[in-house]
Amino acid sequence: MKVMVIGGGAREHALAWKIAQSPKITGLYVAPGNAGTAPIAHNLNIRPNDIEALGKAAQDIGIDLTVVGPEAPLASGVVDYFEGLGLPIFGPTKAATQIESSKVFAKKLMQQYGIPCPNGITFSNYSEARKYLESQSAPVVVKADGLASGKGVTVASSKEEALKALSDIMEGRIFGSAGDSVLIEECLTGREVSLLAFTDGKTVIPMIPACDYKRVLDNDQGPNTGGMGSYSPPGFFNAELTRQVMKTILQPAVSAMAHEGMPYKGVLYAGLMIATDEPKVLEFNARFGDPETQAILPRLQTDLVDILLAIVDNRLSELTVEWNNDACVGVVMASAGYPGNYKTGFPITGLDKLDEEILVFHAGTKFGENSRVYTDGGRVLTVTASGKTMAEAKAKVYHNLPRIHFDGCHYRKDIAAREVN
Ligand code: AMP
Ligand code: GLY
Repeated sequence: MKVMVIGGGAREHALAWKIAQSPKITGLYVAPGNAGTAPIAHNLNIRPNDIEALGKAAQDIGIDLTVVGPEAPLASGVVDYFEGLGLPIFGPTKAATQIESSKVFAKKLMQQYGIPCPNGITFSNYSEARKYLESQSAPVVVKADGLASGKGVTVASSKEEALKALSDIMEGRIFGSAGDSVLIEECLTGREVSLLAFTDGKTVIPMIPACDYKRVLDNDQGPNTGGMGSYSPPGFFNAELTRQVMKTILQPAVSAMAHEGMPYKGVLYAGLMIATDEPKVLEFNARFGDPETQAILPRLQTDLVDILLAIVDNRLSELTVEWNNDACVGVVMASAGYPGNYKTGFPITGLDKLDEEILVFHAGTKFGENSRVYTDGGRVLTVTASGKTMAEAKAKVYHNLPRIHFDGCHYRKDIAAREVN
């Protein structure tokens, strides 16, 4: 089988790494990939949003299965386009991707089908939204409707902050048309967990739970990022909670999508707040999470290609998905300045000095002079270790991280610390 992965981040490197382990694979391609995927796959110089070029490459090469990493090509309809060409592809259609690409759509779906979520009201008119927000008390959450690279949510601790966020979105249009509508939501407290599931539109199989860290600095300080680290499993999230989330959230969401005439196939990612009462949905994503995937896939025992094919062929019910009992910790190394402006092109050293069991998933990296690896983005690497306990996995990863270096590199020192201390 020839498989193509769309994307160039550490999530896609982890997907390619896992797919490469399948005995079914005769050819593996990543578009565009990075310096980490180059040794295990053919990197194709095609941007993830160039859907026509991706389709043409898949036809020319004779790709048997395409796997989509990021949300943008899903939201642009890459799955519909490939299916139109008769090319097998893993991921939801453009219509089904609305569960991530429109927070208003997702909220209405949850409200209509009784899926637990924070109370919220949607607006497409600025003065009405403002009037409503003025009647609310802080803390309150303001969300732009559309995709905003993870920056569209403001958890405002004062009303001024909330009003400014609303004005930035709807008047300042800082996210463009993604801010045509907004969602104003009650602020929940509790612990956040990501529970991802495989689904063929009917059968739903949960993955193992994971936590991610969105802020750039230790103790959740500083601005939000695309994720600075992840671990699996969170100790408090027991099998009973997984069963509850399956019953009250994941299965109802998949049934609701089918009922709405937009059958959902692929990975459904539930971003959850676990409060004292019941788990509630903060967001749905239509794909594997980044960096959760880098801490989840190392624990997968079942052949990932078998799972992906079973979903594409609507026979997920025939499969059992197995995980090991390890703990896994992944820490993101980022460029100086990230998540703001940063420079690239710095050599990365020490990748050959790591203990054997350390997995390094590349994101913004490329090969340069003398076949050395250079930085090529803000998020550069996810460095991952497994262990019998979280303490062991955490110790291994933090023992190895200082051996890797590039100018200005930084990473959080507290990933999984709350599980250990
Ligand atoms: P989202 O992109 O919707 O996941 O939001 C980004 C982050 O904002 C989440 O991971 C939470 O930390 C926070 N957040 C979103 N919605 C709420 C809410 N209703 N209450 C409290 N925090 C929230
Ligand atoms: N880890 C958050 C996301 O993938 O959107």
